[in-house]
Amino acid sequence: MNRRRRVAVLISGRGSNMVSLVEAADAPDYPADICLIIANRADAKGLDYAKSRGIPSFLIQHRDFSGREAFDGEIDRVLREFDIELVCLAGFMRLLTDGFVAAWAGRMINIHPSLLPSFRGLDTHKRALEQGVKLHGCTVHLVEPDVDSGPIIAQAAVEVRDDDDAESLALRVLGREHEIYPRALADLAAGRLRIDGRRVIGASSSL
Ligand code: GRF
Repeated sequence: MNRRRRVAVLISGRGSNMVSLVEAADAPDYPADICLIIANRADAKGLDYAKSRGIPSFLIQHRDFSGREAFDGEIDRVLREFDIELVCLAGFMRLLTDGFVAAWAGRMINIHPSLLPSFRGLDTHKRALEQGVKLHGCTVHLVEPDVDSGPIIAQAAVEVRDDDDAESLALRVLGREHEIYPRALADLAAGRLRIDGRRVIGASSSL
């Protein structure tokens, strides 16, 4: 097998997607290794899990830096110190500077709780219900400077039920997030993906 790619996961909170990536990478034939967790909030629950698994973890808080460039610069420095090759954003709630995004272009992915390009931004489940969509879901995409944009690697759809509220819908979508994120990372890490304009070719089929 080819060498496993070294991956960092950036989180701000619960970290359930990070857990799904770490657990997937437990399989010996998984093409990536989760080598580093970075959180920007001290209360990010995911940090406890990282510690319990012995994965190096760092708390980098924006208020300790003079501005966004300096904050992103410190994240970049730690990523390089750990020889990180790929970055997964997993509920990371800070906007990254264009310079940082450019530096990691093609090597940084994000998971978003909607079927992009619908419902970029926050409160996706509430907005999906308000709009009355019948299908909702989640998307893994390459990160570009515009928020929740970038070529789509994988999506999974869930049916919206008549009795759904934002919470029940979020829970079902989250279950699918935990399926597609490890698959998308595996596709990227194994070098299976090719970009053709806005299209990503070669990903495992969406769910
Ligand atoms: C997920 O719904 C993810 O799609 C969004 O933020 C949430 C993070 O959840 N970007 P978790 O921290 O991975 O549990």
